[in-house]
Amino acid sequence: MNNADRPGKPQPAPVPFLDDIPEAVRETSDVDPQPPIQRVVLLWGSAGLGAIAFATMLWLGFRAFQPSTAIPSASSTNGTSGESKNLTGSPASQSASSLLGHLPYKEVPEQELQALTADPAIRLRKPAAQAFENMIAAAAADGVRLVPISGFRSLADQQQLFFDVKAERGQAATKRAEVSAPPGYSEHHTGYAIDLGDWNAPAADLSPNFEKTAAFQWLQTHAVRFNFELSFPKGNPQGISYEPWHWRFVGDRDSLETFYQARSPK
Ligand code: DAL
Ligand code: ZN
Repeated sequence: MNNADRPGKPQPAPVPFLDDIPEAVRETSDVDPQPPIQRVVLLWGSAGLGAIAFATMLWLGFRAFQPSTAIPSASSTNGTSGESKNLTGSPASQSASSLLGHLPYKEVPEQELQALTADPAIRLRKPAAQAFENMIAAAAADGVRLVPISGFRSLADQQQLFFDVKAERGQAATKRAEVSAPPGYSEHHTGYAIDLGDWNAPAADLSPNFEKTAAFQWLQTHAVRFNFELSFPKGNPQGISYEPWHWRFVGDRDSLETFYQARSPK
């Protein structure tokens, strides 16, 4: 039984002049209003229009089933898919080939690195190193002693940090990735990222407690003047653990493109 036949269902009001007229009567006309030649023209015209409409529908249907090869535009990536985060300050499009929340980065060429005065074993890309030298001096002038802990890291460094530590701790890859990037996916490869400590609070090194230090308070207020920003704030769209110690340089075109330019979709 279909819904229209259900007992008790109110029947629709009759529609005058259409459904009330028997089909046979509707299709029959007593008088042919068109002379024969006009009928032929009308018939062929109608057939032509019908053929055009049919071809258009076929073409539209064909297009609807073609896979899209276009790179999504800003507006098309905005909305419910999550890509809108990229337009509001996340490091890169979530449609980039990310791995466990981390985005791919190239290793900076050796010749573009510069050792830091505070610790020559730690290197940053030259513009970032220069900005850091200025920042550490400004902090010192305000009575805050920043300590560089880690700067540029090679793929081999990150391989060891991710897999060896993961094995030592018996961690699943997903768990390890909450705090460490797999090799090829660390901002440290770029030479723009630096982990910082507070000289007066070594126990807070690489810990969320770093946010309670004078160094962090100072960085929060002043780092932006030196073009450094926090990479992984609380609730970051990449889903990486909060890292108050990890800062990145975004003070020139290359660094901006590195962190903000949408990557190729998967
Ligand atoms: N700790 C950050 C996510 C890194 O390993 O690059
Ligand atoms: Zn870091």
